[in-house]
This record gives sequence, structure tokens and C-alpha cells, in this order.
Amino acid sequence: MTKPAKVFIKTYGCQMNVYDSERMSDALAPAGFEETDDMAAADLVVLNTCHIREKAAEKVYSELGRVRTVKEARERDGKKTLVAVAGCVAQAEGAEIVRRAPVVDLVVGPQSYHRLGDLLDSARAGAKPVETEFFAEEKFKGLPAGRESRLRARGVTAFLTVQEGCDKFCTFCVVPYTRGAELSRSVDEIVAEAERLADAGVREVTLLGQNVNAFHGAGPDGKPWGLGRLLYRLADIPGLDRLRYTTSHPRDMDEELIAAHRDLPALMPYLHLPVQSGSDRILKAMNRRHKAADYLRLVERIKEVRPDIALSGDFIVGFPGETDADFDDTMRLIETVGYAQAFSFKYSPRPGTPAADLETQVDEAVKAERLARLQALLTEQQKAFNAGCQGRTIDVLLERPGRKPGQLAGRSPWLQPVQIDAPAELIGEIVAARVDAIGSNSLFASLVEPRASVSGIPHAAPLPAESVA
Ligand code: SAH
Ligand code: SF4
Ligand code: F3S
Repeated sequence: MTKPAKVFIKTYGCQMNVYDSERMSDALAPAGFEETDDMAAADLVVLNTCHIREKAAEKVYSELGRVRTVKEARERDGKKTLVAVAGCVAQAEGAEIVRRAPVVDLVVGPQSYHRLGDLLDSARAGAKPVETEFFAEEKFKGLPAGRESRLRARGVTAFLTVQEGCDKFCTFCVVPYTRGAELSRSVDEIVAEAERLADAGVREVTLLGQNVNAFHGAGPDGKPWGLGRLLYRLADIPGLDRLRYTTSHPRDMDEELIAAHRDLPALMPYLHLPVQSGSDRILKAMNRRHKAADYLRLVERIKEVRPDIALSGDFIVGFPGETDADFDDTMRLIETVGYAQAFSFKYSPRPGTPAADLETQVDEAVKAERLARLQALLTEQQKAFNAGCQGRTIDVLLERPGRKPGQLAGRSPWLQPVQIDAPAELIGEIVAARVDAIGSNSLFASLVEPRASVSGIPHAAPLPAESVA
């Protein structure tokens, strides 16, 4: 067979997978692969999958049905297609995937992407390789962040994985099994990658980890550095005007990280801090290892140093044994915190996790009813938060062409999407903009003249919803 030249990559799940897909694409480029967004044109199809909930995992099999149709059509035209399943379903199900979907030629878990080239060779030879070893360290060393031109093409924001895996073992979660033990990259490696991104025109970097604030990478002084210290170092890199990180665990928010929110204008005032439940009984059963009051104290502490911080969270409803009273505790916690954004899910039993075996599973109809109530409250809070921006002048990082001609799309410091009338040459700039209208998901703003490029945001400008004029 002639060497495949086009690769189609479909990414599911979290930002970590987005980052990994980019690294896979980078790793395939020297072998002559170019990315395409047309599956029918692809010699190699990669599905980078997510196993977090049953629905997420099942999507892969329905997509593989479509892949099979495309592969067969190409075969009739005399073209070969290799099909690879990567990501967390690959890790969790391994060879089972090939049994269930014979269209698959190779299975590769998230810690083995540096082996992709070898695996493709053996797939071409018809071997159907399945690689699910944990090589987290080798993975990063063997997957250099791409050539500058490719980075340039990716625009003004980028993800940077600093930490992988999780040792927390929340009783509902597959991540410790699919991503393995916690492992932090070294500070030097991260700084070098961040500098390459800044050189390529990236203005905003989001540091990624399943437990990003458990980061403890080796510093240049040979000692482990926490995430706070890493952020102070990254804030020194010229051109990197915005820093973010996700996802944090409440137990790993240490004083240095909180101080970074106080001291670093580049560290954006947005924190994704999942709590999952507001009931101490359920938190204990989930093995979250903190109480609701600890979380509330932590939120207070962060708001003290950064009054304009926008909080985001994840919630699970219908964890086994959750009663109406437990659910009410969650609703109360949400009312107390006031979220700018949130993600919420019905509990989904995952094979191999302790909670899946509990006999106190909650009825689907109850889960659905609770989820609807919880989401209504969160939506109301998000609307109130957005409404608080009406009439204000805020910083916007202009990222890409907008919905309509003459418009650009960007983000506020609080991660809200912003649509703004502005010329294309301003892409990559941080501009001052006045918020004229609030849409269901976006803010609509206009440039403030003079068009000074402002870095960071005015610190003394908190954004509580009640400050609406
Ligand atoms: N590391 C992050 C979460 C990663 S998974 C943390 O510790 O918070 C992203 C989110 O998916 C979780 O926060 C949780 O809300 C949700 N989730 C994970 N497992 C789930 C399950 N079995 N059922 C429903 N939601 C789940
Ligand atoms: Fe999953 Fe818990 Fe680890 Fe988050 S902290 S990835 S929810 S086990
Ligand atoms: Fe999904 Fe794996 Fe991320 S299970 S959420 S892709 S770590």
C-alpha cells in the first residue's frame, strides 16, 4: 500500500484529549500525514475517545459504524483506510474494541502515543496491535509540541498539559484507571513549551491536568514546584498575557496557588473548581475527602484575594444513595456559591469503579428530575452573571473571525464568549470593549476608542451580578 497521506482525527471528552490529538497530529506530520476534516479523504482515521460516562463511550461505537461505511466505500475505489481508536475507551476496553468493531485496525491508550508510528507499521502489516501500557513520561518526551508553522496556524490560545493521571480515586470515576497514576512534567519542559507557544503568537495558555493543581513537577532547583509557583514563572514569559488552568480539586488549592490569583494579573479570574455534591454524606461516599463547609471556606478565601473571580463547577446528581435531603444540600451549596458557569451530569455507573457496585442506585426518573432542577438554578446564575457585564468595559482577547462578516470572536477574562465588530488585523490583540448586549451564550460588545491594547484586567473591578446598573 502507498503511504497514507491524510489523517482525520475526531476528538471526544476533555481538553486533555484536545491537546493529545494535536500532539498526535504533530507526531504524524513528519511521516507525511496532513490533517483533513473530511473523513472520506482520510487514509488514517483516529477516534480519540472518552470513557467518563456511558453515553460518551457509546458514541464511539456509533461513530465506528459510520467509519465502516466510509472505509468500505473507499475500498470499492481501491483505497485503503486504517482506523485507530485512541483515548480513554481504548485504555479501558483494549482488545474488546477490535472484537466488537472489526473495522478497527489499532487501539492505543493515552500514555502510548509516542508509539503511534510503530503501531501504524504493524497495523499496515495486518497485525491489529493493541497498546495500553502506561508510559506517561516517555509519552511527553516522545511527542514534541509541533513545528512553529503548525502552532501559528492554531491561533492565539493553546492548551498545555502539565500533569496527567489521578491518584484520587473518587468512587464514581474512571480517570485513575484510564489515565493512570499522577505524573507531573518538569518545569523546564513546560516553560520551554510555553515559550515556543508565545513565540508562535499564542497569547493565552490554559494549563491542563486531570488534577492540575496536584501538579508537583521538578523545578530547575531540583525541588518539586507546585502549580502556584509554576504560574509565577510562566507569568514572566513575554507575550503570554493570559494564563488559565483546569481542572482543579478543592483539596489541592494551596496558599501559593491562591496567592497567585492575588498577585498575577495574567492569571485570569476564572476558576473551575468541581465539588460534585453539597452533601457531606455523599461527598464521603464519593471519596472526595472534604466536606461542603471546607469547599465554601475555600471559595471565600479565593474571593478575598480575587473578588472578581468567576467560579465554575461540576455536579453529579443521583449518586448511589442520594436522598432528596442530600440533593437539597447540593442546591443550597449552589445558591451560596453563585456559579458563573457549570457542568452537571446524571450519575453514570462505570464498570470497575466502586460506586457502580452499590445497591442503592437511584432511579433514572429521579435523576432526570433532579438534574433539571439543578440545571435551571445554574442557568439562572449564569444569566445573572452575564447580565452583570451589561454596560461595562472589559478586556477581550480577540481569537478568530466571528459569526458574521466584520465581526471577531473573543473571550472575556471570565471566559465568556464575546462577539465584537472589529477588523481582522486585531486578531491576537487584547482590546478594551464595552458590553452592549447579552445573548444566551455570548456577550456582544463594541471596541472602546482609543483602541489601547490592555493586558490583564483592572483588579479593583469586581463583577458581582448585583453591580448591574
Ligand atoms: N478531575 C476532575 C474531573 C474530571 S471528570 C475533578 O476531580 O473534579 C469531569 C467530570 O465528569 C467530573 O467532575 C464529574 O462531575 C463528571 N463525572 C465523572 N465521572 C462520572 C460518572 N461516573 N457519572 C457522571 N458524571 C461523572
Ligand atoms: Fe476523577 Fe476524582 Fe480524579 Fe477528578 S479527582 S479525575 S473526579 S478520580
Ligand atoms: Fe474522558 Fe478520559 Fe478526559 S475519560 S474526560 S477523555 S480523561
